[in-house]
Amino acid sequence: MHILGIETSCDETGIAVYSEKKGLLSNKLYSQTKLHKKYGGVVPELASRDHIKKIIPLIKEALIESKILKKNINAIAYTAGPGLINSLLVGATIAHSLSFAWKIPVIPIHHLEGHLFSIMLEKKFPKYPFISLIASGGHTKLIKVMNFNKYEILGRSIDDSAGEAFDKVAKLLGLEYPGGPNLSLVARNGEFKKFIFPRPMLNHPGFNFSFSGLKSSVARIIHKNTLNKQTIANIAHAFEHAIIDILTIKTKKAIQKMGIKNLTLCGGVSANKSLRKKMKKEMKKIGKKVFYPKIKFCTDNGAMIALVGLIRFKKKLIKKKFLTVNPNWSLKEL
Ligand code: KG4
Ligand code: ZN
Repeated sequence: MHILGIETSCDETGIAVYSEKKGLLSNKLYSQTKLHKKYGGVVPELASRDHIKKIIPLIKEALIESKILKKNINAIAYTAGPGLINSLLVGATIAHSLSFAWKIPVIPIHHLEGHLFSIMLEKKFPKYPFISLIASGGHTKLIKVMNFNKYEILGRSIDDSAGEAFDKVAKLLGLEYPGGPNLSLVARNGEFKKFIFPRPMLNHPGFNFSFSGLKSSVARIIHKNTLNKQTIANIAHAFEHAIIDILTIKTKKAIQKMGIKNLTLCGGVSANKSLRKKMKKEMKKIGKKVFYPKIKFCTDNGAMIALVGLIRFKKKLIKKKFLTVNPNWSLKEL
């Protein structure tokens, strides 16, 4: 069985072919970074237009690379939400058109369920139940994964997501889009404890996060200081330190409270090397194990959508059959 996966929820066109027997056969990605760079962030209208340009050639390339003929594709999985509505509509329209032409089913996939199972693109992944920290540009969530399709949201950000905080602080520091990875690079040259930022909500009960206060205090420090290369690096370093502390401490609390052994990290921010390192160290201290996908599977990609498509197809858990996207689709509605 072979599934074609289509991801177009934001500024990456991701296409993959996943085989039930052989795993991932091809994984093509076109990132729109260059297009949005001059605006300092994603421009939704430009994003959808670029998906339209890139999606068909990428599908052709993914099929060629997979060496699977289109007649041997059994179903098409596409991201139906959450995300930017026009970008989602490009993937949805192409998925439904191909499904009509090739006479095969179409499977709408929840983007966060894609991130949740990106760990299963790796050789090593945990057994159920596990706790998952999704930290992306749109979401920060702690989720208890009891089984496939059985999720409990333990905590979430009540304001900005972790990725948004990275991107906004990077912009304030005058760093280029995409902010998160650039800030992380600059932070490497920062001196330890030149600045110290707050860690909001750490003493609140429960597992919710808040990042907007952290961002505001970074903004205040930026306005008070003359920015040179070293100050920028010092602020980036202190900010990264604070955000990683918040993510690690809350996750540690949740996994201990739930009495669960394994943790997975996913979503774009989990590509952050300092976060991966710190989480591993902290989990080891309390006898827990952390799993994270390769960097290329942390950020948006078609492979995770194809994989979840295969699982849903085999379990006959296909949500809706008509052309549909839902930019505000909640994981609770699955
Ligand atoms: O999962 P993703 O590719 O897209 C969404 O579903 O939102 O996540 C993108 C987010 C962006 O905010 C980006 O700045 C952040 O992930 N990100 C990083 C790193 N790589 C990507 N943040 C911090 N450090 C990184 N290395
Ligand atoms: Zn994502």
